[in-house]
Amino acid sequence: MKELLEHINLKNLPKHLAIIMDGNGRWAKQKGMMRVIGHENGTQSVKIVVENCARLGISHLTLYAFSTENWGRPTGEVSFLMSLFERLLQKELKEMEEEEVCINFIGDLTPLPPSLQQEMHRSMERTKHNQGVFFNVAINYGSRHEMINACKAIAQKVQQGELSADSINDQTISQHLYTSASPDPDLLIRTSGEMRLSNFMLWQLAYTEIYVTETFWPDFDKNQLDRAIVSFQQRDRRFGKVK
Ligand code: IPE
Ligand code: IPE
Ligand code: MG
Repeated sequence: MKELLEHINLKNLPKHLAIIMDGNGRWAKQKGMMRVIGHENGTQSVKIVVENCARLGISHLTLYAFSTENWGRPTGEVSFLMSLFERLLQKELKEMEEEEVCINFIGDLTPLPPSLQQEMHRSMERTKHNQGVFFNVAINYGSRHEMINACKAIAQKVQQGELSADSINDQTISQHLYTSASPDPDLLIRTSGEMRLSNFMLWQLAYTEIYVTETFWPDFDKNQLDRAIVSFQQRDRRFGKVK
């Protein structure tokens, strides 16, 4: 472990790390347990990642916790997840405050249970001045939905004469997305071996380095995170140019 850390160049860290936390259900199934036990155990990995982003000095972190498509799962699983999010926020708020984490939820929060929305607003309010990791949690998040909303907001501004259609550029779009407070991710990690984006940050990931690990989310730990960062640091990011 110590050896690996020595390989992490602290001067070349991703400024924004995004993670598609996947494989909770398979992790549980492999152990002969119910899927929800996988979700419960996945919370440990969330804690590890937040702590280690703070340790390394990664300033923006985005975790994909629940997609707009995940409503299609069995109602028991969906309601378990909603109460898990609420429980977690209640339990971890104090520690996030101590760790200087600033939590921000991205997605359409309005269809979520009112008691969960209340916890979300409370934790955003209580951590809003924190200067440490800026922590986006994507809940009821769908990138297409996000882009449709951005289009509507921009169109309205054009209609009202606040903006000219000609002046719309990359920045205009970025500023109208839920992630307007964060730079585009430098590194995307997806656990459990799936090679797809599943409607996650389609605009923001245009030039992001992708790292896929076979590890299921509940088994993702500090060592795994360090490995992903080392891999990122070995990439040649060309952004379409030649050297
Ligand atoms: C990720 O694990 C958590 C959520 C999508 C909420 P999954 O629940 O997708 O686990 P698998 O992919 O079925 O193993
Ligand atoms: C993506 O995982 C969504 C989250 C991690 C919250 P899924 O498990 O829902 O994605 P698919 O269905 O495999 O594409
Ligand atoms: Mg999955």
